[in-house]
Amino acid sequence: MSAILPPARRIWWKQPVDKVEIVWIAIAFIWCMVMFFMMPYWHVYGKQNLSNETYRVKPEQFSRAAEEMVAKYTVRTETDEKIPVVKPPVGSDVFLIARLWAWWPILELEQGKTYRLHLTAMDYQHGFSLQPENINIQVVPGYEHVVTVTPNRAGTYAIVCNEFCGIGHHKMVTKLYVK
Ligand code: CUA
Repeated sequence: MSAILPPARRIWWKQPVDKVEIVWIAIAFIWCMVMFFMMPYWHVYGKQNLSNETYRVKPEQFSRAAEEMVAKYTVRTETDEKIPVVKPPVGSDVFLIARLWAWWPILELEQGKTYRLHLTAMDYQHGFSLQPENINIQVVPGYEHVVTVTPNRAGTYAIVCNEFCGIGHHKMVTKLYVK
């Protein structure tokens, strides 16, 4: 049998399927169904699949909103790159930009208070992964992902990019403070 030459028996598709093959197809199909129904199940009963809203957005429009927030509510800067640490008012719209290969700005939120977290990517697809909580949100350019969040535990969290985005992907990390 060769992939290049035509099959020896020309009407090969009429041959009966082997029992082993049927069994494997059945196992694969059942597993597909399990995985399929786990998606809505996790959404309702799991903790890491948040209900988010998604809107179309232009990168300039989003970065203008983020810059406005940073101009008003920056409390200090961190690292050599002087990344602003922003403490937005409780209940407000909070903006986080993903781009090659950084998150901007650093956010400082209050424990037990609710915020509207807006996420977008300026260039390519990135992934928002909040550690150690294992909360994951796809960050897609051209779209604004909005999640209503109420941090319930104080601490310093890590935000890592979990969507491979090029040579600096592994450096795309930042912090999120909850105080
Ligand atoms: Cu951004 Cu990986």
